[in-house]
Amino acid sequence: MKRTRDFLRIGIVGATGLVGRTLLKVLEERELPISSIKLFATQRSQGVKLKFKGSEQVVESVDKANFRDFDVVFFSAGKDASSKLVPLAIGKGCLVIDNGSFWRLRYDVPLVVPEVNFEDALKHKGLIANPNCSTIQLVVALKPILDNFGIKKVEVSTYQAISGAGYKGLEKLLYEIRTNEVNPIISNHPIAFNILFHSIPSKYEFSEEEVKIVNETRKILHKKDFRICATCVRIPVTYGHCESVSVVTRFPFELDKLVETMVKAPGIKVVDEPEKELYPTPRLAEGTDFVYVGRIRKNPVEKNGFLMWVVADNVRKGAASNAVQILENLWNRSPDKIFKFKGMFR
Ligand SMILES: NC(=O)c1ccc[n+]([C@@H]2O[C@H](COP(=O)([O-])OP(=O)(O)OC[C@H]3O[C@@H](n4cnc5c(N)ncnc54)[C@H](OP(=O)(O)O)[C@@H]3O)[C@@H](O)[C@H]2O)c1
Repeated sequence: MKRTRDFLRIGIVGATGLVGRTLLKVLEERELPISSIKLFATQRSQGVKLKFKGSEQVVESVDKANFRDFDVVFFSAGKDASSKLVPLAIGKGCLVIDNGSFWRLRYDVPLVVPEVNFEDALKHKGLIANPNCSTIQLVVALKPILDNFGIKKVEVSTYQAISGAGYKGLEKLLYEIRTNEVNPIISNHPIAFNILFHSIPSKYEFSEEEVKIVNETRKILHKKDFRICATCVRIPVTYGHCESVSVVTRFPFELDKLVETMVKAPGIKVVDEPEKELYPTPRLAEGTDFVYVGRIRKNPVEKNGFLMWVVADNVRKGAASNAVQILENLWNRSPDKIFKFKGMFR
């Protein structure tokens, strides 16, 4: 395939955040041909210096961004920034890959996990959304099961690292461990030595996070009525989300065959020798891009049911690495889609 250009001019909005800094690191590790990179955040971060491939990059206020200067802009700056600035960037011809939740469910915005539904990315109109961290690892683990055995029902409970709440979340945990006092950002409850729920709108309702994992899974798998429900909590772990997943398949399976399909699936590492204390943990996943699966066992109270434990680094595979993998796949498989498209806000 003929490329429109041989290099990429990249912008990152939200570069000083946990995901933004990890994006820089992941882009450094990968082979993409980047000719320039510019970093943006709020005014308070203006002048902060971050390293990329040995040279210092100075962070600018996003108010000064001229989106004409980029081929691709990664957004990891939250809902508000994305809602206002993504249309501007697309209007100036950029391809945007957005980590925030604002655009994810819009019908004309592909929501993409490369191992699961990369083809959706090819239909973009200037914007590709990165799913929520807890959704990404779940759909990577479900995909081989869906393809080989069908899925009737999924029940998932998440145990999410506090870095999922950004750098303020990490600060809260570390402060509370150090001082044994509550830091009231994010929640009035302590997270240290504790477990918290995400915000819940009212009694008897699901939290926003629980609704996200359900709706996003349905969109990515192209199954509007996919039977799935979730309970999501935050735990006092720095990096690495864990999920206890109960699946009922459409067709009967032999456990060995089911495990074999997972071993062969892209993006998954099966670590399942619990008798030797080998099973997925947040510390195992931290700093890697794999979705780790273990504790696979038949569910004794569900016909065609099994249980598994799924762990991934929320800031890498759950955010930055997934976003970079989307771009890498486009660059390798359909580079024209990076440079030539009819933008949705033009
Ligand atoms: N953390 C995760 O595990 C994770 C996983 C998946 C998706 N996400 C999503 O990724 C996004 C970033 O998350 P994070 O964890 O990196 O958060 P974070 O650590 O709190 O960082 C937020 C970043 O956004 C910048 N920012 C905030 N408001 C802005 C605005 N109005 N204009 C420009 N920049 C703005 C901040 O700049 P300053 O430093 O100047 O304040 C900072 O660089 C969020 O939408 C989050 O939901 C996060």
